[in-house]
Amino acid sequence: MRSTLGRLTVIAGTGGDGVPPSEGFLDALWLRLRQEAREAYAHAPMLAPLFVESILNQPTLEAAAFHRIAARLKNDLVGLGIIIDAFNRAVEAMPEIAQDLRTDIAAVVERDPACARFIEPFLYFKGFHAIQTHRLAHWLWHHDERDFALYLQSRSSDVFQTDIHPAARFGRGIFLDHATGLVVGETAVVENDVCLLQNVTLGGTGKDSGDRHPKVRQGAMIGAGAKILGNIEIGASARVAAGSVVLRSVEAGTTVAGVPAKLITRAAAPTEDQILNDLLYESFAYTI
Ligand SMILES: CC(C)(COP(=O)(O)OP(=O)(O)OC[C@H]1O[C@@H](n2cnc3c(N)ncnc32)[C@H](O)[C@@H]1OP(=O)(O)O)[C@@H](O)C(=O)NCCC(=O)NCCS
Repeated sequence: MRSTLGRLTVIAGTGGDGVPPSEGFLDALWLRLRQEAREAYAHAPMLAPLFVESILNQPTLEAAAFHRIAARLKNDLVGLGIIIDAFNRAVEAMPEIAQDLRTDIAAVVERDPACARFIEPFLYFKGFHAIQTHRLAHWLWHHDERDFALYLQSRSSDVFQTDIHPAARFGRGIFLDHATGLVVGETAVVENDVCLLQNVTLGGTGKDSGDRHPKVRQGAMIGAGAKILGNIEIGASARVAAGSVVLRSVEAGTTVAGVPAKLITRAAAPTEDQILNDLLYESFAYTI
């Protein structure tokens, strides 16, 4: 299997370390992560326990991710095993969680110019860990485990500095860049391939109840510190400039900036290259 994602190509093969690929199929992303972990181990042997416990000793990509995230969330009251068990229950009931995990990693590597390896979001980026924690909290919220869901929201606030209500709905391919200070309200919706930077608020105005939070459509980018308030829509592929306060819906493909935000750029027709890139991205998202 060969997958291309922007400047990255992942080619599946044997693990090269005698470990069979998970679930009997060639899992290109998992093989790539293991390769990167071996290289990182060789360069930084003093960090061996991190690479071994988090990746090299794990049987599958999901097991590795759940272990790494649980290791960051655990504390004296709620231990590692309880959080890993909850992840396992969620992914068994809803296998899309494993697919979303892969698409989220790919989204970071594709869009973050500072990120060159899959191992970086996987081991270190709190935005990636926060969105996976939210996916678990969301599942628990809808399966009559409200307290566990709220506990994870609270731990994610402590550990990752993100405060996402468990009921908020997220698509796949989500990139929370830096993630510090992100706040997302209960009835917010964030569709596929959205990028949210640090200190973004998807909040209510304080005047409404019920469905009161923003709806961010596919491929939108919300710049650092932007506040989007109310049940308004940020259209597909729209951009909100850093530091803006958005109080009205934003049309698809446009850019807004300022306080309150005003239109600065209208949508341009996509180039042939953009259309081809989108197609490549879609195929990556569904094969890895
Ligand atoms: C919104 C954004 C994508 C616009 O990019 P762009 O289309 O290349 O726009 P330009 O830089 O050409 O600016 C167009 C106009 O918008 C203004 N503008 C751009 N960003 C602005 C902002 N954050 N607030 C207010 N005005 C802004 C520019 O001053 C310019 O105004 P002018 O035409 O009167 O000179 C970009 O400015 C931005 O805010 N990106 C978010 C990045 C971010 O959050 N980085 C944090 C990394 S840690």
